[in-house]
Amino acid sequence: MYYPDALIEEVRLKNDIIDVVSAYVRIQKKGASHFGLCPFHNEKSPSFSVSGARQMYYCFGCGAGGNVFTFIMEYENFSFPEAIKLLAEKAGVALPELEFSEEARKKENKRARILEINKEAAKYFYYQLRSERGKTAHNYLLKRDLSEETIKNFGLGYAAINSDELINYLKSKGYEETLVIEAGLASFNERTGTKGKFWNRIIFPIQDLNHRVVGFGGRVMGEGEPKYLNSPETIVFDKSRNLYGLNFARTSRKNHLIICEGYIDVISLHQAGFTQAVASLGTAFTAGQANLLRRYTEEVILAYDNDEAGEKAILRAITILKECGLTGRVLDLSPYKDPDDFIKEKGKDAFAARLDEAENSFFYEISTLEKNFNQNDPEQKTRFHREIAGKLCNFAEDAERDNYLEAICKKYNIGFDNLRKLTLNYATRTGLAKPISRPKSGMKDKMSREDHARKAERLLLTWLSEEPLLYGRIRKYLTVDDFSSELYQKAAAKLFDGFEKNASEPAAIISLFTDEDEHREIAAIFNTRLNELNNAGEREKAFNDILRTVKKNSHENLTARLGTDVGALAQALESRKILDELMKLSIKIN
Ligand code: UTP
Ligand code: MN
Repeated sequence: MYYPDALIEEVRLKNDIIDVVSAYVRIQKKGASHFGLCPFHNEKSPSFSVSGARQMYYCFGCGAGGNVFTFIMEYENFSFPEAIKLLAEKAGVALPELEFSEEARKKENKRARILEINKEAAKYFYYQLRSERGKTAHNYLLKRDLSEETIKNFGLGYAAINSDELINYLKSKGYEETLVIEAGLASFNERTGTKGKFWNRIIFPIQDLNHRVVGFGGRVMGEGEPKYLNSPETIVFDKSRNLYGLNFARTSRKNHLIICEGYIDVISLHQAGFTQAVASLGTAFTAGQANLLRRYTEEVILAYDNDEAGEKAILRAITILKECGLTGRVLDLSPYKDPDDFIKEKGKDAFAARLDEAENSFFYEISTLEKNFNQNDPEQKTRFHREIAGKLCNFAEDAERDNYLEAICKKYNIGFDNLRKLTLNYATRTGLAKPISRPKSGMKDKMSREDHARKAERLLLTWLSEEPLLYGRIRKYLTVDDFSSELYQKAAAKLFDGFEKNASEPAAIISLFTDEDEHREIAAIFNTRLNELNNAGEREKAFNDILRTVKKNSHENLTARLGTDVGALAQALESRKILDELMKLSIKIN
């Protein structure tokens, strides 16, 4: 793809992983490795390790791991070319122009130009706010209790009344009008010509995870319609994959993140010390955003506006969070209308207390439901209970369902056995959460055999990479083709090739995979942890088991192809022979 392998390797070797990681994470030497708090999940005691000898990092808590490129990609949310660029600059290695296809080069170029335009525009708005013309806007923000420091941190600005000015300014800097339009800062109309999008508005620059300005929100001062104008989606701005404030919130190191509705809510929460707050961008919360959040936290507290629209948005967000495997809780802002309002009236301690009290999302759903039924009417009350039963069926796990059932019964004073019966009835009637619904056994066995084999393949590659001497002892039993996927075969080929040349280093192999998804998967292959095995006998048994599992799976895959693939027969016979041999002997590992 982009750069020659040798160049990638040069950049890697010139960036010692200990130095690079130290710039982001406080790590301390302990034995052969350095340890610190993992930047990829929340923890109180250090399980993030960096090995200078292997030039790799690994977290025993969350399983994140890889080489120096992986680290930068994960931490900065960079693509591989962006990561290599950063590290090359740091080490003073000159990179050649990327060998993109003509089309890819043009697109990359355009992306970069649009980001530049956004940056210039943000600067322009920022200075306007501080100029004589920006007085009213500036005072408006101060009147809303935002400090100078906050205004600066969020880069707030002002779009002047004459909207041509920004366009002319950008043109004077050499940016074509069409590009300014494509950046979403202007639009063209036959009658009026090209007009700036924002005029006489407070400007909220929207930044991506790396603090690059990707779009803008603009608010009228005082009353007016529409209250907010937002940049359209552009090639640098995907609304469903960005959240306002996440560039700051991602390093807040709290055990949860807060989602609210408005720009001002986020800003005022950050000002009060709640730097874990983000907002979706004038659009509904999406699964893409939930997945983004899942990188940083397991729990999300919803602090939406205290009105009917807010309630609907909360119910939708709860469903999305659940589907993405996140825990949700709901903050009660009453009697205030939004987080900004609450903080202003009650202060940060009261807000912190509300965070602690935030309601479990299931209870929240049930109490919203309750309002639809008149609890004094037996008929309606029963319907309410049926609805609860329906919701309880969504818990797949018996224990969890029972715990919720118990808690709900207490809260609403319902007999446990009654509600339980209703729930079972509901489940059987609708075919949901069938009491015993297991996948067909054949299917399940196949799945677990494949997973099992994959795991064994990863363990084998990690083990060999850590103890290269073992390769000499097993090379006659194992080939690259024994690995079950193309990617694993590629990784094994690179590793074995290195062994033959006496120079195999997983950290070097990982960077040969420059496609982001492949890179991550390869990093995982070489970071699979071997369980702590105490004595030599156990270790030897484990190693032999792993090797046999890999070989056995390979043999089974071959036999499955017998009917359709003529070459498979000879191979299957050969692998049968090797497998039999491996079952009889035990390869020494010390
Ligand atoms: P709100 O109307 O709650 O505004 O919209 P707010 O953020 O609390 O701002 P203040 O306190 O009234 O100044 C919440 C969010 O919905 C989007 C914006 O992202 C806003 O921050 N929105 C709202 C729009 O995109 N367009 C609108 O016209 C209104
Ligand atoms: Mn609001």
